[in-house]
Amino acid sequence: MNIEVRYYSKTGNSKKLAMAIGEELEKEALDITNNLDKDVDILFICNAIYWAGIDFNVKKYINENASKIRLLVNISTAGIKKSSYKKMKKLAKKNNIKISDKEFHVPGRFMGMHKNRPNDDDLLALREFVKGVIEDGRD
Ligand SMILES: Cc1cc2nc3c(=O)[nH]c(=O)nc-3n(C[C@H](O)[C@H](O)[C@H](O)COP(=O)(O)O)c2cc1C
Repeated sequence: MNIEVRYYSKTGNSKKLAMAIGEELEKEALDITNNLDKDVDILFICNAIYWAGIDFNVKKYINENASKIRLLVNISTAGIKKSSYKKMKKLAKKNNIKISDKEFHVPGRFMGMHKNRPNDDDLLALREFVKGVIEDGRD
């Protein structure tokens, strides 16, 4: 199975999640300046909510790499909002990309809130989530 991990992170929280996925999969997690050079079975996209939405750069990345993504898995943090999943689902639909109905979301440190999040427990939970997604992909 060809699996890739990409992140966009203004303050490091999404990057932290991406690095944990990378460690779990023994695969380097890269930022979204790295386009996909071949088709991927699963793309873990680590992103966050800024100004109540998904960042323009993330949207651009998904739009430009859509044809190479067989399954998108959303991994997100946010300060206040629940998750970027709904917005990512809309973006995936627009681009005809299949998106997993499983997502991973935890609060992200933001202006004095959610100190230390994502924390070690979040990263452990994320690793379990990733294992589950890979198992599902093998079915
Ligand atoms: C410029 C900026 C705008 C943000 N706007 C929102 C927002 O509208 N709603 C929200 O829930 N969180 C908002 N946040 C909080 C981020 O979603 C949260 O800190 C997230 O974990 C950041 O991820 P990152 O460290 O990967 O950039 C904002 C953070 C920044 C830096």
